[in-house]
Amino acid sequence: MTIWVPEIDAYTGSRYRAIAAAIGDAINAGSLQPGEKLPPQRRLADALGVTIGTVTRGYAEAERNGWVTARVGSGTYVSGCQDAKAFQMPHVETSGDTQHIDLSLSLPPPHPLRQQGLAAALASIGQSPEALSRGVNYQPAQGSAVQRQVFTAWLETLGFALEADELLITQGGQHGLQLSLQALLRPGELVAADTLTYPGLMSAARQSHLKLVGIPFDDQGMNAEALRAQCERQSPRMVYLTPEQNNPTGAVLSAERRDAIVALARKYDFWLLEDGVQYLPVEQRLTPLYCLAPERTLFVFSTAKVLAGGLRIGVLRAPPVLLERLTQTLRAQSWMVPPLLVDVACHWVNMASAREVMDWQSQELQSRQIMAAEMLAGFTLQAREGGSNLWLMLPEGFRAVAFSEQLKARGVLVTSAEPFCVGSAPAPQAIRLCLGAAQDQDTLGRALQILLECLRAGPLASPTL
Ligand SMILES: Cc1ncc(COP(=O)(O)O)c(C=O)c1O
Repeated sequence: MTIWVPEIDAYTGSRYRAIAAAIGDAINAGSLQPGEKLPPQRRLADALGVTIGTVTRGYAEAERNGWVTARVGSGTYVSGCQDAKAFQMPHVETSGDTQHIDLSLSLPPPHPLRQQGLAAALASIGQSPEALSRGVNYQPAQGSAVQRQVFTAWLETLGFALEADELLITQGGQHGLQLSLQALLRPGELVAADTLTYPGLMSAARQSHLKLVGIPFDDQGMNAEALRAQCERQSPRMVYLTPEQNNPTGAVLSAERRDAIVALARKYDFWLLEDGVQYLPVEQRLTPLYCLAPERTLFVFSTAKVLAGGLRIGVLRAPPVLLERLTQTLRAQSWMVPPLLVDVACHWVNMASAREVMDWQSQELQSRQIMAAEMLAGFTLQAREGGSNLWLMLPEGFRAVAFSEQLKARGVLVTSAEPFCVGSAPAPQAIRLCLGAAQDQDTLGRALQILLECLRAGPLASPTL
């Protein structure tokens, strides 16, 4: 029987790391499938001409990265997710789980005004013949002109200057991203993103059979020189950016780099996909890319992080020249976003309680950030001021995947760096905490206390080989 034998000579660095990297790449390329058994260690060692210890270390490294699982007495198997190195869309189940404090999902902080706002919007729809009529009829794929006007006016109050006729209504931010990739790029084309980025972008790119390349970034955002070098090698067709806060690290793309990246987009002719879903008040934001380069920027926004994730309503702003292509794709996907749900959002955003909950949220996130910074003083933290995520670089000796498992066993869910890594970019030993997700500040405090205890206890001993 033939066995899977990687080309480890294609990798630099130590042989065991090469084996681990080859496993990750084979999973990404689909030549190793979820659930598939890796070759027995001795056979692979013989085939590669290395010691069995090297293979054992390679498998252990792949396991630490979460790509494979060793089963005692049985062997080592490819982990269950479709793409072990990239992203498995989380199965979101927030209700009823009283066993865990879940800081792994990027959710806005809970507030009764959200349910009240939704109830009021539903009641108001029941009284609106126009909305009820839209609810039982087909409507233009882009969304009705009235609905797009409502969003335009609402977005203006949030400091986003957009035109109603350059908007498409989407089923949330993820749909806006997926739609942009699907409509504008062909399979095999290249998309660039920060080396750590929003996992939903990766999953959307994969669904459209696109290639993704990670561009190094720092606290000023994507490194424009590295992007230029990538363009010289092979220019991406689209660059995905979260200029106001990188997810997970919170890094903000500086004004200077925004200009530099826009200049590159014009020189090398690529689209900019700007994701503004992680909302911040206008006073805290810099000039968006869609204002700097309106002719080549698609801008994605959603009600998910300001009103309610379950509403699934967002907007995609695109240069006029792209609207027909995007509309056709949306039509092919689902004809239109359900008009009734769009109207729920339209009624809700016009209510005073919508603004009230958003203002409350901004204050609340700031208090949560201060609390976390105080409790975790002395550890290396990164966060976007006013943002909902905290990025914790683990002290020497900790492994992020093992540490998040340890926290899970203590009842706290967080996300290790791994799902945010583009391609085979190495995962920093860091975890993301979604501060907004905790029920309230007391609950957050309890979770942070557990985290602190685990950090103070020091790293777990490495498994013996
Ligand atoms: C950066 C970013 N973009 C897009 C989304 C998806 O937003 P939506 O829930 O509206 O699909 C998320 C969700 O967490 C996100 O963090």
